[in-house]
Amino acid sequence: MKKILVLTILCIGLFTQCKKDNTGSPYTPTCTGSANSYKNDVTPLIASYCSGCHSNYSSYSQVNGAKSSIRSVIVSGSMPKGSSMSDAERNKIVCWIDNGAPNN
Ligand code: HEC
Repeated sequence: MKKILVLTILCIGLFTQCKKDNTGSPYTPTCTGSANSYKNDVTPLIASYCSGCHSNYSSYSQVNGAKSSIRSVIVSGSMPKGSSMSDAERNKIVCWIDNGAPNN
C-alpha cells in the first residue's frame, strides 16, 4: 500500500515537471515603438530559441513562409518547446510578423 502511494506521488511529480518544461503561458502581444527588423531582432531569437529543433527556419523565405504558424505557437506559448521566451522577446517576433514580416 505504501509503495503505491509513493509511486503515485512520483508520477504526479514527473507529470507536472514535464508539463512545466513543455509549455510557456499564452500572452497578449503589444506592439509599440519602432518596427522590428528581421535581421537584428528576429534572426537572433530564432537562432537561440528555435533552430536547435527547427533547422528549417534558417532563411528569410522559410521563416516568411511559416510565419502564421510561428505566430500562433508563440502567442499560445506552445513553442519554444522545453523553454520559454520573455514577453518582450515574443513581441519582437510577433510584431515583426504583424508588421508584414519585411525582409529588413
Ligand atoms: C526542443 C525542441 C523544439 C524547440 C526548441 C522548438 N520547437 Fe517547435 N516543434 C518541436 C516539435 C517536436 C514539434 C512537433 C509538434 C509538437 O510536438 O508539438 C514542433 C512543432 C512546431 C510548429 C508546428 C505546430 C503546428 O501545429 O503546425 C511550429 C510552427 C513550431 N514548432 C515553431 C517553433 C518556434 C517558432 C520555435 C522557437 C520560438 C520552436 N518551435 C522551438 C520542437 C521544438
